[in-house]
Amino acid sequence: MESEPISSPSAFQHLMQAPEDPIIGVTTAFSKDPSPVKLNVGVGAYRCEEGKPYVPQVVREAELRLLNDLSRNKEYLPITGNPQFTGLSAKLIFGEDSPALNQKRVCTVQCLSGTGSIRVGAEFLAKHYAHKTVYIPIPTWGNHPTIFTVAGLEVKSYTYYDSNTRGLDYEGLLRDLNAAPSGVVVLLHACAHNPTGVDPTADQWKGIQKLIRGKNMLPFFDCAYQGFASGNLIKDAFSVRLFAGDGGECFVAQSYAKNMGLYGERVGALSMVCGSESVAKRVESQVKLIIRPLYSTPPIHGAAVAATVLGDRELFNEWKADLQGMADRIIHMRQLLHEALKARGTPGDWSHIIKQIGMFSFTGLTKEQVAFITDKFHIYITFDGRVSMAGLSVKTVPYLAEAIHIAVTTVLE
Ligand SMILES: Cc1ncc(COP(=O)(O)O)c(C=O)c1O
Repeated sequence: MESEPISSPSAFQHLMQAPEDPIIGVTTAFSKDPSPVKLNVGVGAYRCEEGKPYVPQVVREAELRLLNDLSRNKEYLPITGNPQFTGLSAKLIFGEDSPALNQKRVCTVQCLSGTGSIRVGAEFLAKHYAHKTVYIPIPTWGNHPTIFTVAGLEVKSYTYYDSNTRGLDYEGLLRDLNAAPSGVVVLLHACAHNPTGVDPTADQWKGIQKLIRGKNMLPFFDCAYQGFASGNLIKDAFSVRLFAGDGGECFVAQSYAKNMGLYGERVGALSMVCGSESVAKRVESQVKLIIRPLYSTPPIHGAAVAATVLGDRELFNEWKADLQGMADRIIHMRQLLHEALKARGTPGDWSHIIKQIGMFSFTGLTKEQVAFITDKFHIYITFDGRVSMAGLSVKTVPYLAEAIHIAVTTVLE
């Protein structure tokens, strides 16, 4: 006789099975699929032409240098992280000649990648900022509303994307932010907006800046793709430098997950641009009180790798070339997918695929079309129709194009 599985009373009996994260869940489903033709364009991670995860050569080189440096040890970092890393990160995003940096008005702390940086910033705002509401764009990265809510802020939204033009709804954005109360926090994607791939133009950024500063709002930049949008680190920092250079205050969360390929190393920084040097010092003392009970001090390895790359001219130049290569490959995938759909005569205007920038294309595929493509072709896409262009290759573009063509022509919108 088979024995019953052991089951003892549990204090957690009442728990319901929680839903899988919508983005991570796509990768879980992909991993379980035994099909040899399966393709994952749901996850926001860069893949090389062979479809494999990519570790930049400069990261390997930096790791070798660190490994061979026997003077290194495993002591705790300060609560604010590796000072070389935070200094170089601030220079990377604000620029070498940034007035805010020269005036020592910026407090930068090392955090756990982009997510951790946003979370620490959100916790700080919930505790110390007069306004407890943050406005986030619609749509936005799925984790944003949760991060701010659990930190204790109320989350409201502003119009961002126009599904008719598949571009920015600039009028809608200005209208909604104009109608929002003065002083609130406004979350902005520094570049390569996720999931739409649609960014404001330089003039539009200036209009947004005028409105935000006019209403004394606090801009909070999420910068997860510096160098990925255009291939150029300076160009992709335009929006942040515009705001950081006008004398006002702002928060910036940086991630090195994508641009340095350090995803799982969790390397990021939170910068708080303050009104004066003395405020920045007090802000730093207070942010330490937020970090200490959360995770005490950040991890050593990834930040040391990033600091080695950022602080060595030769490695830095090599990294810049690599970034350009990654951005160019993504742009090439956009062109190929666009051409492949046009060649098939797929109904609809697909020009947004080449107009949008960054890692993702917000294709406009419906939930039903995405489900059809996954079911019939084993191609994994997030339900909102967001395709990671970085997950494609010359070999896989025709397969995706064929799947989209059949989905669009056979599945009702
Ligand atoms: C817009 C945006 N912000 C932040 C992140 C955070 O990434 P990480 O925590 O891995 O740095 C991501 C990752 O996909 C993102 O797309």
